[in-house]
Amino acid sequence: MTAIPVLIDCDPGHDDAIALLLALASPELEVLGVTTVAGNQTLEKTTANAIRVLEFVERGDVPVAAGADRPLLRDLFVAAHVHGETGLDGPKLPPPRAAPVSEHAVDFLASRLMGAASPVTLVPLGPLTNIALLLARYPDAVASVERVVLMGGSIGVGNVTPAAEFNIWADPEAAARVLDSGLDVTMVGLDVTHRALLMSDDAERLRAAGRVGRMVAELYDFFHRYHERTYGFGGSPIHDALAVAQVIRPELLHTEHRHIAIECGSELTRGRTVVDLWKRTGIEPNAHAAVEVDAEAFIRLLLERLSSFG
Ligand code: RIB
Ligand code: CA
Repeated sequence: MTAIPVLIDCDPGHDDAIALLLALASPELEVLGVTTVAGNQTLEKTTANAIRVLEFVERGDVPVAAGADRPLLRDLFVAAHVHGETGLDGPKLPPPRAAPVSEHAVDFLASRLMGAASPVTLVPLGPLTNIALLLARYPDAVASVERVVLMGGSIGVGNVTPAAEFNIWADPEAAARVLDSGLDVTMVGLDVTHRALLMSDDAERLRAAGRVGRMVAELYDFFHRYHERTYGFGGSPIHDALAVAQVIRPELLHTEHRHIAIECGSELTRGRTVVDLWKRTGIEPNAHAAVEVDAEAFIRLLLERLSSFG
């Protein structure tokens, strides 16, 4: 089985961190590199966090390139109320030993894409600023992209506002650029991530599953406080890990090929992913929107892979 080459763009962030661990623990994937973007926290913090997570599992060999420190047009709004001041509050992770590579994330993505032996799957897990800049600065790089599997958006309600999910809301202009790119885009939105919760019992199993499992359980402890308080959930959506899981096992999600437009004009509905689920507009579909999830199989995969670190 040839591993699928992936480039992960993220804003760690508790669920980004778990998504990175899932990718690293999965032989189906070859992680060519990690790029970071401002989102859940500032770029400095999300970059340090990505390196901390990689070093925690002794994968300092995976290069990290820092990208955009703010959205294309909008002001930066960090989600400290969800992820804490560090962006990874909870576990006591050592500070990063290494620095990111000197290349900007956009140049790094382009060089990795154009130097890859086969087309690469892009997995954006934060605001889409870096991906939009890549498309603008390196239009030829598109030919080296197999597909884009992004965590973001929602057919239904939002999370950061009633209308919009955080990654898209944070940089709607970037999201619009990605959806209009002609790339093969899969949208893993709140419609499925909120139906595939990691429950407290699962976290307890991880806590007993070794050093990495314990660290993930400590991430969960902090992350879950927000979701219990906000939604009354008995568990927490590990949003970004579900996007990575879709690359590993596409059958975990059922998607519909639909047109998705991004609201960039209205403040009330800024960042809304307007998914033409019932094909009312007659506009050609431009993405695969996830509508169903095999939650049990996803959580089973997540627990199995995270426990495999020992
Ligand atoms: O809305 C959830 C998304 O926003 C996740 O990617 C989370 O990490 C934050 O970036
Ligand atoms: Ca994220």
